[in-house]
Amino acid sequence: MKAIRTRLPGVTLRDATPSDADAVMRLLADVNPDDPAAFADVRPSLPLPQEGPLSHFRALMVVAESDEGETLGVLIGGVPLWLFDHPGVDLALAHRLAERIAIITAVAVDPRQRGRRIGAELIRHSVRRFTRAAYGLLMLNCFPALESYYQRFGFSITDDLSVALGPLNAIGHRWGDTRVAARALDRYTAFVDVPGLASPVVSGILPNTRFARGAYFDGEQFRA
Ligand SMILES: CC(C)(COP(=O)(O)OP(=O)(O)OC[C@H]1O[C@@H](n2cnc3c(N)ncnc32)[C@H](O)[C@@H]1OP(=O)(O)O)[C@@H](O)C(=O)NCCC(=O)NCCS
Repeated sequence: MKAIRTRLPGVTLRDATPSDADAVMRLLADVNPDDPAAFADVRPSLPLPQEGPLSHFRALMVVAESDEGETLGVLIGGVPLWLFDHPGVDLALAHRLAERIAIITAVAVDPRQRGRRIGAELIRHSVRRFTRAAYGLLMLNCFPALESYYQRFGFSITDDLSVALGPLNAIGHRWGDTRVAARALDRYTAFVDVPGLASPVVSGILPNTRFARGAYFDGEQFRA
């Protein structure tokens, strides 16, 4: 993808390349200072071929750059790895879900450049890229301080999220100590409140996975 202009004077966005590695890693170090290895897989991913559907196949790695070539910010996203660890999801299903569900793993803006809407441009751009690539759901683990920030971009904040695999079948995922920000990207995907469950179920992410209307959770299983 060639560089695209943003609404911010002198700021463009483009897909990250191997020559961005040092700047990207420096920015990402700020996201999770307690866990320096949190983004260790990003550097080896940057030399991957720049092939669709996203910037590097199913990864999205985008930098914001000034006209002078300074790296101002970065957004990293792609496959939610928990899909491949989930006991209720076999490998073939995980691959199908990974074509429809994406996660933003990090957004980071140079501390001297914050508050200029660079983060907003990166997030809006990622929503457009995932939407164009036919994803149905975009999610991220949301720091408490940023919950209202992500709501500005159409994300809903929930404690947890389950994904329907059929009318009375949904898989859940434990999100650790943060809440989840999630946004539907197409008209097939909907959040359904289910009596008995504290958080909504994502319905319709794959064909024939609409959750049953009127279904409830009795503490052990879903019933209609
Ligand atoms: C979060 C981050 C990417 C936002 O980038 P940005 O370019 O400064 O954001 P924008 O200019 O689009 O928006 C600024 C808004 O962000 C919100 N915000 C940013 N960081 C915040 C924080 N730590 N606590 C609360 N609000 C915050 C503010 O509400 C601010 O709103 P305002 O414009 O009304 O003052 C940037 O602060 C950052 O790099 N933080 C460190 C890394 C991180 O925490 N990343 C997010 C988790 S992956």
